[in-house]
Amino acid sequence: MTHSRYAEESRRYDADKLSVWYGICFNFRDKTYREHTMPTGSHSLSFPVQGDKENSSFFTEYLNKLLEERDSLGLSDMIHEIDAMMLTVEPGNSVEYIEELCLMSPYHYLVTLESESHWTHVLRIDMTAPDLIIREVKNDDTKGIFRSLNEVFPIGSSKPHSRYMGEILRVTNRHDVVKLQQRRGILFFSQDDIGKLELPGNLAITKPSPYTHNVVAYLERKPEEPRVYALGVSSIRNDARQACERAKQRQQALAIAELILPVDHLATRIYSQNREVAILEWLSLSSYYYWGSFDIVDQNSSTNVTKSIHYADELRSPAKVFTANNTPYFVNHFKIFPSPTENFVRNYGPRLHHIALAVKDGNRQGIENIDFVVDAIREQGKSFLLDVIGSKDEGLKQIFSSASEHSSLIIEYVQRFGGFQGFFTKDNVAELTHAAGIEEELLRMQTEAQKAVRV
Ligand SMILES: [Fe+2]
Repeated sequence: MTHSRYAEESRRYDADKLSVWYGICFNFRDKTYREHTMPTGSHSLSFPVQGDKENSSFFTEYLNKLLEERDSLGLSDMIHEIDAMMLTVEPGNSVEYIEELCLMSPYHYLVTLESESHWTHVLRIDMTAPDLIIREVKNDDTKGIFRSLNEVFPIGSSKPHSRYMGEILRVTNRHDVVKLQQRRGILFFSQDDIGKLELPGNLAITKPSPYTHNVVAYLERKPEEPRVYALGVSSIRNDARQACERAKQRQQALAIAELILPVDHLATRIYSQNREVAILEWLSLSSYYYWGSFDIVDQNSSTNVTKSIHYADELRSPAKVFTANNTPYFVNHFKIFPSPTENFVRNYGPRLHHIALAVKDGNRQGIENIDFVVDAIREQGKSFLLDVIGSKDEGLKQIFSSASEHSSLIIEYVQRFGGFQGFFTKDNVAELTHAAGIEEELLRMQTEAQKAVRV
């Protein structure tokens, strides 16, 4: 299929999907979407800061400087929502992963872009939520920068191709955004590099962050234009389409299809010393603002939240969350607290830890929706790291799935009650962090690694 035909098909697909799903999508949107575009202008610093985690004077000084500069340069107005998230999986894993995601999320398989050494699958909900781009290398021997980022970490290296790569942000003028960001010290892959990496040629892509190891890509697109990724030859792959259809039939049979909503937040784990710089770097690259940081004392870590200045509704552009230990690993033996976050980063490398999906507020057959969804998915053989935690009284309930064997990513489900605006409760986060720290694969690999060096 030629590129222009793919663009046309993509546009038609969106129109078809929207009409087919009209009853589903727009019903819940009418009730739960809080989307509103904020007035234009410089306002990245106008949001109240929440939380109890103390930041350094360096952080406060540069938070103000960077956001003021971003606004005055016009970057805050040129950079918009997260248009897509990109990740890679091991050879032969993408179709199974598509089936898993089509069961556990509202994503549908859209199209596959084939290039010389990669299959790149595009999953979509609709044009009001970000796409999910899943890349699979055709050959296990394929080397590349994303593989290298995994290989220096004990568990990361066991699945060298599996990692979250980063977000694509929609921009109104890619050329101007790149020029301004380069002046601010941001490094980009050249067009030649992007071609060799077999990434879409219509993206500008930063070099991986030294703090999160993620990239940020800019895609120029007007809101009403289709999302098109200029890469290889596009086709609908039968195996991927059938895998997703099977999962969607199960979703319908389980009566959970309408309950699972788009992505609420993306949570990245980083080294303790990189907490502040990772936040400031992301704010420099995006049009997000600093929502606040909370100390999770029991787990010796903090949760740090950023949100879009343009969309109050996370489902339109997910919140970005950073979790870091409070202290570095080499002093942790003096503490009585566990360090699940630092353990994760040391074993997997800095990376995305989980994708959180919102669950529609309400209940089904007298069971709160999140419990209904989790019970149904558990019956399909998927496991969870703990039971659903939180309560209606506290405002929200949450749970972590086990890490996917295909991507190593965890799916979180989060249900907010009665329009609860808060992002989390400290008790919930402490329990979730603890549960992720005793995740089976992490423990097994850690024990093996320690055995190997026993003297
Ligand atoms: Fe989360």
